[in-house]
Amino acid sequence: MSLPTPYYEHGGITVYCGDCRDILPHLPKVDLVLTDPPYASGARRDADRQVRGSMLRSMEDADWFSHDSITAWGFAWFLRSTLGGLRGILSEGAHLYVFTDWRMTPTVYGMVEASGYRVNHCLVWDKSHYGMGTYWRNQHENIVFASLGTPAAMLDRGMGSVLKFPGVSPGVRKHPTEKPVELLAAIIGAVPGSVIFDPFAGSCTTGVAAKQLGRKAILIEIEERFCEIGAKRLSQEILPFEPETPRTAAQMALLGWQDDIKETILEAKE
Ligand SMILES: C[S@@+](CC[C@H](N)C(=O)[O-])C[C@H]1O[C@@H](n2cnc3c(N)ncnc32)[C@H](O)[C@@H]1O
Repeated sequence: MSLPTPYYEHGGITVYCGDCRDILPHLPKVDLVLTDPPYASGARRDADRQVRGSMLRSMEDADWFSHDSITAWGFAWFLRSTLGGLRGILSEGAHLYVFTDWRMTPTVYGMVEASGYRVNHCLVWDKSHYGMGTYWRNQHENIVFASLGTPAAMLDRGMGSVLKFPGVSPGVRKHPTEKPVELLAAIIGAVPGSVIFDPFAGSCTTGVAAKQLGRKAILIEIEERFCEIGAKRLSQEILPFEPETPRTAAQMALLGWQDDIKETILEAKE
């Protein structure tokens, strides 16, 4: 298989429609991964199902979205096969941010490490309100921060590990697990990476955030209906476009402000 024709391509944002594991090996180098894989949240009954059987069955289901009802073992296998393939297109020092819930966090840690990455931290997305339930109603998701080797320096060292942003309300969201653009923009703005990669793009929120910050992005989504929604968002989004104001030499280099780097260095010497 060669690289398919993009579903959407404009202003440095490219969306491919297909299975990320098939497309991945044909992509150019990327230097930041921000992704929100299916959570396998429907898989609570590993004990009474044959793992491989249920995994394959769920792949045939017309479910909410692909692979969400795979078991924990199926999820581990799926993540391992994606993250392993990703190494070939990642720059050394690239940061990876992987969204997950409390149930799958240990599996994500394990599979990230088993695929040859270093786990550095676990960020918390505080949604500022809690959902349904009786015991300790869920108010957060985790974001595992890993890297290929030693992570490249942060652009903003003033970031805490708890990111508080309200979720996208059900009446507004275009995807059942849509993440807030502001949350993704806060992560992208704080970290290095000129080409962002999201292999599980859903409604392309990573692309919308990248576009707002003037960064490039490559996104893959398996379901055409979500590619369509994403392409619409990317072309319609009314941007309060404020290019990032670089504060450090690293930020300036990332955004191509070469002359300003020289000036900053000269000023620092004076
Ligand atoms: C948790 S959702 C991402 C939602 C996204 N963050 C947003 O804001 O809309 C995960 C997405 O991965 C997609 N997906 C599942 N398996 C995939 C695969 N093998 N390749 C590409 N996309 C896949 C699903 O269709 C789903 O839309």
